[in-house]
Formats: sequence, C-alpha cells, structure tokens
Amino acid sequence: MEQKWWQNAVVYQVYPRSFQDSDGDGIGDLRGILRRLDYLQELGITAIWLSPVYKSPNDDNGYDISDYRDIMTEFGTMADMDELITEAKARDIRIIMDLVVNHTSDEHPWFVEARKGKDNPYREYYVWRDPVNGDVPNSLRSTFSGPAWEYDEASGQYYLHLFSKRQPDLNWENEAVRREVWDLMNYWLEKGVGGFRMDVIDLVGKIPDKEITGNGPKLHDYLQEMNRETFGKYDVLTVGETWGATPEIAKLYSDPKRGELSMVFQFEHILLDQQEGKDKWDLKPLPIGELKQVLAKWQTALGNEGWNSLFWNNHDLPRIVSRWGDDGIYHRESAKLFAILLHLMKGTPYIYQGEEIGMTNSPIRDISEVQDIEARNMYRERLEQGYSQEELIGAINAKGRDNARTPMQWDGSENAGFTAGTPWLPVNPNFKKINAEASLADPDSIFHCYRKLIRLRKENPLVVWGDFELIEEVPEQVFLYLRHYEGETWAVAANLGQAAAAVQVPRLGKSRELLIANYADREFADFEELSLRPYEAFAVKL
Ligand code: GLC
Repeated sequence: MEQKWWQNAVVYQVYPRSFQDSDGDGIGDLRGILRRLDYLQELGITAIWLSPVYKSPNDDNGYDISDYRDIMTEFGTMADMDELITEAKARDIRIIMDLVVNHTSDEHPWFVEARKGKDNPYREYYVWRDPVNGDVPNSLRSTFSGPAWEYDEASGQYYLHLFSKRQPDLNWENEAVRREVWDLMNYWLEKGVGGFRMDVIDLVGKIPDKEITGNGPKLHDYLQEMNRETFGKYDVLTVGETWGATPEIAKLYSDPKRGELSMVFQFEHILLDQQEGKDKWDLKPLPIGELKQVLAKWQTALGNEGWNSLFWNNHDLPRIVSRWGDDGIYHRESAKLFAILLHLMKGTPYIYQGEEIGMTNSPIRDISEVQDIEARNMYRERLEQGYSQEELIGAINAKGRDNARTPMQWDGSENAGFTAGTPWLPVNPNFKKINAEASLADPDSIFHCYRKLIRLRKENPLVVWGDFELIEEVPEQVFLYLRHYEGETWAVAANLGQAAAAVQVPRLGKSRELLIANYADREFADFEELSLRPYEAFAVKL
C-alpha cells in the first residue's frame, strides 16, 4: 500500500464557536483560531478538522448552511479564512473542512427558491412528497425528534428533513444537485484546503419512499463520482461520518482500489453504553469487555483494504474523561489512560478541542440552560411521553452535546480567557483548575502526555504501521494489547477501573524500557506478576 501523509497525521478538531473569541461578542471566531495556532503547533498536531464556518442561521450551530462560499458573520470574513489556511500551512498544519451536504439550511437560496412552488427549477433539489391519507408520507423520523417530514402549506406537500425542520435534505438522485456539490468542493480544494470531513455522508444514498436512510444502494456510486469529480486529483484527507459502518462497510469506503474516501469514523464503540435498539438517551453502563472486543475487531478487520480513524470525542459526544473515566480524584490518571490507549493504536487519531487538557462534562440542573437543539427537542418530546424531568436531565448530563461545546479553557482569568464578553454557552466552573496555561506549565500534565504520544507516533513507524494483537487472558477491566513491527514489539496496558487489577501473562516476560506512563513512579513492567493501580496505563518495549 502506498503511504499517505494522512496515515501519519494527528488531527485536532476545532469547534470554532467555542474555541477562541477575538472580538468580545462571546462567540469564537477565525481570528481567535489564528491566535492559537502556535499552541496547536506546540501540541504537535498536523491537521485541523474545522467544524462548519460557512454562512449559517445557526439552527444547528453551522451544520445548517445557507452559503457554502461565504463565512458566517460571527466567525469573520473570507480574508480571515484564507489567512488561516496560509498561516496553518506555514506551521505544517492542513485545514480539513467540514462538508455538510446531506442537507442545507432552509435559508439557502436553493431552498428559498424550491419553496416557491412545484414548478420552480430548484424544486427537485429537495425531497417533496404528497400527503398520504391527509398525513405524513411515511413513518421516517428525524434524528432531532418527531417526524422527518414537514408540511408546506403553500404547495400542500411535505419536504424531508432527517435533522431539524430547518435542515431540508438535498435530493442526491438529482444529478444537478450532485454537480452543485462537486462545484463547491472544487472551490475549497482550489483554495488549498487539506481535505474534508463529511457530515452524515452515509445518508446521501437515501431512498425515502422505502424508508432507507443509511447505506442506500447508490451511496458508493455517488462517492466514486465525487472522488473522480473533485478531490481524486488532490493529495487530501477525506473522512466520512458513518454511524452505520461495520468493518465490511468501512472497507467499501476506504479500500484505496475503490477510489472513495481515506477513512471513516465508525461509531460501534461509541454506541456501547446505550440500550440495544434504543436511543443515545437510554443509558446503560459501559461493558468494558465489549469495548475491548469492538476496538480490537476494528484494529484487525480492515487489514490493507482500509484505514482506521481513532477517536473518543467530538462536538456531538460527551467528554471521555467524564463518560468512561473519573473526572474526580482520578481525573489526571484517567484522562491520560484514554490518551495512551487510543494514540498507540493503528489508525489516524483525532483529538477534540480541550481533550488534551482533560476538559470535563458540564452538568446542568434545568432545561433552560440547554442550547443544543437535539437535547431540547428530545426533552419536549419525552416529557409529553411521560418521562420524568429528573430522568431527562440525567440523560442530558450524560450524553448531551453541550457537554463538548462549553468554551475552551485557556487560563484562570475571567471566562477562562475565551472571551472578553459574555460567552454564548457558560464556561465550565472548573476552569481555574483545568486550563491550557496551567497544563502547559506542568510537565506532568495531560497536555504533555498528549504531546509525548504525538511525538512517539512521529518518531516510531511501529505506531503507525505495526500489527495489532489483543491479549485476552487478563481481567475484564484491563485492556492489554501488543503492536508488532519489523521484529519489534510494544505492549500497551490500561486498567479501566478504580479497583487495582492483577495481571499474569508470563509469556510477555519482564520489560525495562518504558515508553510512556500515567503514574510517575512506573519504571518497568513484569508481566509474570503485574499489578495495575486505579486507571493506570503505560506502554513498554518488550
Ligand atoms: C452530524 C454532525 C452534527 C449535526 C448533524 C446534522 O452528525 O456531527 O453536529 O447536528 O450531523 O448536520
């Protein structure tokens, strides 16, 4: 397999609204990101996945785009964007644009036109259907609660929206729509961006009349056409958000021979703490044994026919240290554990802003504190269905998207150095303790652990290319794996619990060469008789 730059990359996701405000309006912006590029360079990342910065009325914080060739007023101007691409490049950092083309905003001129009537030339850019028995065309539901169909009084038809009713779905069966998408992608490629993260891309092959949404029959034809018409001629990273991917499906997207994407985000591990067949809000404790099996499966199943992405966090997910770690007394240890476990696996790692300093969830007490449309809609719907307020607030605190979206904690000053104004979402009250300035100053911090992991990856081909082997004969709470490359073997051990754990794998012997650890006094590992402390994690050369 030909080696690609993105196989060696470490990607950092910036959620611009919450990263750094430069003009005091309480909303992060592009000039704010420019100010923090040196920080990102110091961390060592080589690409930024930039959540949407395009013109948007912000029904879903930029994931509802009204102009793909302009910048959101609050975020700045196209000149700022060009400067960001140039300044990032000067630091060997590429900018990966978020591509949201399953749907647009209802304020996009195409939809404004389409709404004007059945014979408007833009009508077929979207999905319109007649009522059935005076009601919605079928039982498709929106991810943001309620039916996926919205009635349009003027024409007496419904339009499809798999997300909010202000995010009408584009009709990908219409060739004109696909051509518009290729055009806007080429516009950004010509500007010199480093690639695309493709929002809910597995939905674009939908067949609404058959109630097929994910993995539709034409999906891969469309992606091959996209590749040919746009980024196929460029050396860029493309990563698809694919909630419904199995390893077999992931190979369809990422086998280089097929000419589709570089890799996908798979969510099998992310779904493990929800009740089977239900929603993300229906909680259950994480089964650690399954977490190991699922991640190990993805490590080995793609072989040379695909490439993994590695992540715990993004702007839609709760903070990992609060979710599966301990954000209380073992905050530092457990945040580092998740870093060590993930960054020494095979694939391209993604860090979500604030993860590198161990930012935590931000609990609320009342629905009035929630900004996110997904949680607000769910709360309203479930309250009507008879759920208790307490249960729903509990679910929002565990899984709500605002957890990831509180402002980046830069320092201990007012509003954590995020803004001189009033932040659009309150800063987590723990910012005096957890912030980037403190993390940079402390050589034993979570930040420096991430930095070291990124360096290990850059300096050791084993981390990028080594084969993965799960060691099974250990207690359930212990995740122990090996990486093999050209005669060298590393072992990575992590105790995912508060209780100490005893490990005996004599065949791995005793090792003195420590690569990284989250307890400062760990010096070697004797696998004949190994005892792991709460949330202890380390890597050694065997
Ligand atoms: C993706 C995005 C999410 C957004 C949704 C609709 O899942 O990550 O933030 O709300 O798509 O665009």
